[in-house]
Amino acid sequence: MTDELRLGMFLLQNHIFWVIFCGMKTQNATVNDVETIYSLISHYAQFDKMLFRSKAYIFDNLQMFSVAEIDGKVVGCCALQVIWADLAEIKSLAVADEYQNKGIGKALVEKAVEQAKNLGVKKVFALTLEPAFFEKHGFAIVNKKTLPMKVWSDCAKCTKQDNCDETAVEKTLV
Ligand SMILES: CC(C)(COP(=O)(O)OP(=O)(O)OC[C@H]1O[C@@H](n2cnc3c(N)ncnc32)[C@H](O)[C@@H]1OP(=O)(O)O)[C@@H](O)C(=O)NCCC(=O)NCCS
Repeated sequence: MTDELRLGMFLLQNHIFWVIFCGMKTQNATVNDVETIYSLISHYAQFDKMLFRSKAYIFDNLQMFSVAEIDGKVVGCCALQVIWADLAEIKSLAVADEYQNKGIGKALVEKAVEQAKNLGVKKVFALTLEPAFFEKHGFAIVNKKTLPMKVWSDCAKCTKQDNCDETAVEKTLV
């Protein structure tokens, strides 16, 4: 393999490429993004990879959502919900299949963390089937029982509530 080819492959796999050359950006969601957010979440929810969210839920909670865009196309979403004075939850994180491993999930988590800091929240957590992804971004696995009761409102809507396979991860913000 030539050096040029190696460099090309490295750039393609590197999220810097997607930010600089493809104009990937993260921003607050608008009503125009709801259809795509709904499709992204529904796609993974059908495989039990994340919790289903209705369009009504997404509209009701639109201020919590951010999206990642490439060339004006929404390719990922993420929500941040403040739970209490010291805690916020990162939820509904999804990146379209064909855009994975390009740094988009990382960019969405970083935006959520930045939002939490701006809101004065000291800790963020997630309940996830992908703990290794979060560990890579400075989160630590914690016992679910350490999370406050208020966190469990979503569980009432979950089909797996008696057999939860999600892992709790959290990150203290500095
Ligand atoms: C999990 C998910 C959001 C990751 O998004 P992504 O855009 O593919 O991830 P990124 O490209 O930003 O990855 C950043 C880093 O994390 C790593 N990573 C990505 N997915 C990972 C995983 N499942 N486990 C461990 N590491 C992972 C990448 O290799 C990359 O590492 P590097 O910086 O050393 O190159 C995405 O795979 C997804 O949408 N999955 C389906 C929905 C889902 O499971 N959501 C649940 C999250 S609560």
